[in-house]
Amino acid sequence: MSRLVPLFELNDKVKFVEEFARTTMGDDPCHGWPHVERVAAYAERIAESIEGVDYEVLAIATLLHDIGRFYQTNLHHAITSSKVAEVLLRGLNYDDEFIEKVSHAIIAHSFSLGVEAKTIEAKILSDADKLDAMGAIGIFRVIYTSGMKKRGFSDSIHHFEEKILKLKEKLYLPQSKRIAGELHRRVELYVAWLRDEMNSLGYYM
Ligand SMILES: [Fe+2]
Ligand SMILES: [Fe+2]
Repeated sequence: MSRLVPLFELNDKVKFVEEFARTTMGDDPCHGWPHVERVAAYAERIAESIEGVDYEVLAIATLLHDIGRFYQTNLHHAITSSKVAEVLLRGLNYDDEFIEKVSHAIIAHSFSLGVEAKTIEAKILSDADKLDAMGAIGIFRVIYTSGMKKRGFSDSIHHFEEKILKLKEKLYLPQSKRIAGELHRRVELYVAWLRDEMNSLGYYM
């Protein structure tokens, strides 16, 4: 399952970075290439009604924001991603200002690093990344990850409540908040159903 992403069709350099990211990241549905495609779809939707977006910065930052997950380092994946981006973009003759904008957006997308997004491209990427962790897709991602990590019901519910249901508070832009309303409600409903069924069987969590 793959789709044409208009954001990645901007020019030949962006297409080159797209090919690099696609082949490096593989098909893990949660954090691999499919995640990048979905984040791009949300980013395109958010950016539609915003003036002055640098689409090349947005495209490259979206493509490379999680690439660091695929390198063995002791650093946070967003830091590794920004280092990979810097080397790659220098090789493609991008200037310092462009690289700095991409790097900032990559670092600021991370929930755990806590760096505030200062540019419109960083805000769009951060919001789009969070929207992909919400809604029915977000529910799929939590359950899939719980399976991989052998995490049970109560830890999964804890993850929904401590992380996923707090994501809407981390959004920057009104356009993203509008999309997030329904997605948040779906997760809330699912967690309520899960609790309800478990409680009815005598598991109070
Ligand atoms: Fe990330
Ligand atoms: Fe991501």
